Amino acid sequence: MKITIRPAASKDLAAIEKLFRLPELSLANGQYFTVALLAAYLKDDYFLVAEDEGLLVGALVAEPLRNGGAMVWELAVEKERRGQGIGSVLLKKFIAIMKGKGRQWLILYAPSASPRTLAFYRRHRFCLGKKHIEALKNI
Ligand SMILES: CC(C)(COP(=O)(O)OP(=O)(O)OC[C@H]1O[C@@H](n2cnc3c(N)ncnc32)[C@H](O)[C@@H]1OP(=O)(O)O)[C@@H](O)C(=O)NCCC(=O)NCCS
Repeated sequence: MKITIRPAASKDLAAIEKLFRLPELSLANGQYFTVALLAAYLKDDYFLVAEDEGLLVGALVAEPLRNGGAMVWELAVEKERRGQGIGSVLLKKFIAIMKGKGRQWLILYAPSASPRTLAFYRRHRFCLGKKHIEALKNI
């Protein structure tokens, strides 16, 4: 296994849309990140993929916040490849890039019903805060 982390490209978008289509990652209105939405995140350092010998096995999409932070919208690894360190490599690379850009903190939503995912973020030294209800409105 040789994991490479690189910026996402348009050719990856269909596979990433599929990767992120997990019940725990749906938005409050039941929608998911589509290829069209994901395309808006291309060409900057906030959208990375993990590849194993040319095969896409993980992805992370984020965006900068005004006050020195970054919001991680989605981070996922292919189901059959979880627990092999891929999510950690992806997250660590992203953190290194963010530090290089002078970003000081990250925020994300973690599914409260997934103890293993919570353990993953705890291990990466995220502070886990209060549970909230996601409130979303199209305007
Ligand atoms: C959370 C996630 C990105 C971690 O990636 P990963 O490659 O499995 O993580 P690593 O191999 O680097 O680290 C392993 C740890 O991740 C956690 N983990 C979460 N779900 C796991 C799974 N299905 N299988 C194995 N480990 C999992 C565990 O804490 C595990 O530690 P353990 O082996 O001591 O139990 C991945 O499991 C995933 O895609 N989950 C579903 C999507 C999700 O909830 N994303 C986060 C919200 S943005």
